[in-house]
Amino acid sequence: MCCKRDLAALRVKLIHRKPSWAVFVRRLPQRQSVSESEQVIYKSVHPPQLTVRSVFFEADYIQKKYDFPALPKKKGFAILVLYNKTRLDSTATMQHIDGALITHDLPARMAYLQSFLQWDPEKDGPLIEACKPVLAPLLNGIVDAVYEHLLKYDITAATFAPAQSADGASVDVRELNIDHANIKFRKDFLKGYLVRLVSNHDWTPGSKFWDYIDKVGKAHTGSMDSGLKHRKNKPPLFVEYRDINLLLGWVENAVTDIVMGVEALDVKTKVDILKALNKYWWLQNDLFARHYVNDLSEVTPS
Ligand code: HEM
Repeated sequence: MCCKRDLAALRVKLIHRKPSWAVFVRRLPQRQSVSESEQVIYKSVHPPQLTVRSVFFEADYIQKKYDFPALPKKKGFAILVLYNKTRLDSTATMQHIDGALITHDLPARMAYLQSFLQWDPEKDGPLIEACKPVLAPLLNGIVDAVYEHLLKYDITAATFAPAQSADGASVDVRELNIDHANIKFRKDFLKGYLVRLVSNHDWTPGSKFWDYIDKVGKAHTGSMDSGLKHRKNKPPLFVEYRDINLLLGWVENAVTDIVMGVEALDVKTKVDILKALNKYWWLQNDLFARHYVNDLSEVTPS
């Protein structure tokens, strides 16, 4: 509990403002003690930065902006309650996301995903492009490593057993190895994808790149209509989402090792690149997952 004298002493000291905090002023009736939550707030306050006048000004502004009840103007027993302005702001500027629209409109979906993951096309995109000189000489090794990994398990290798092209042949899963014609054929596709990833320059929600990634995602679900032109007359490809998820996780780990191992980059740049890549994997994960998983609101009767 706080007494009146403490409050008077506190009054000037409490006048403080940080960018993420807003000052709120409220009149305290003479005998009323400060509630526990307010005491907690007091304890988190540091030295004075603002004048009493500017605190009232700030309080007025906050009151109008957030439609709080009128605030007292007297200095007397006014106490300061600090609210987290960031929280207030985020409530005030809550964005409307149209669940139906983002299911059917890819740029709208990307705008939402990018906003949620705090993906900045201007900053994160170029960080991924910066990986090009690092990844380019390692491309063959990365692609080999991916297929070696997929061939460690019969359940993932099985996808590569059927003929992979019109003139190819199907094969027993146990006969598959990294140099088998079926795998060689596949490696070119994966290489093409990685080159496209680090060569892309438009990372905004409306970019054709996301459209391509989205079609790649759909192509793995057995769809005859993924939108990838060269797949039109091919037999459908079906990969369980489970394995997509695993491979994304594995690739993320492998790329992290590569980036961390580049001596020419300082730690901050490495962290920035890895954070951008991390967001990217989650964006791509959605462009796979959305073709496997229906939004429950779409299938659940309301
Ligand atoms: C990180 C996750 C994955 C990515 C980024 C990825 C990417 C790709 C890409 C870019 C293509 C070429 C699409 C085209 O242009 O036709 C492709 C095709 C293919 N993917 Fe994936 N893939 C992933 C996971 C998997 C997994 C886990 C498997 C199997 C276990 C798999 C099996 C295949 C097969 C068999 C094709 C060939 C389709 C064809 O014959 O045209 N993918 N994938």
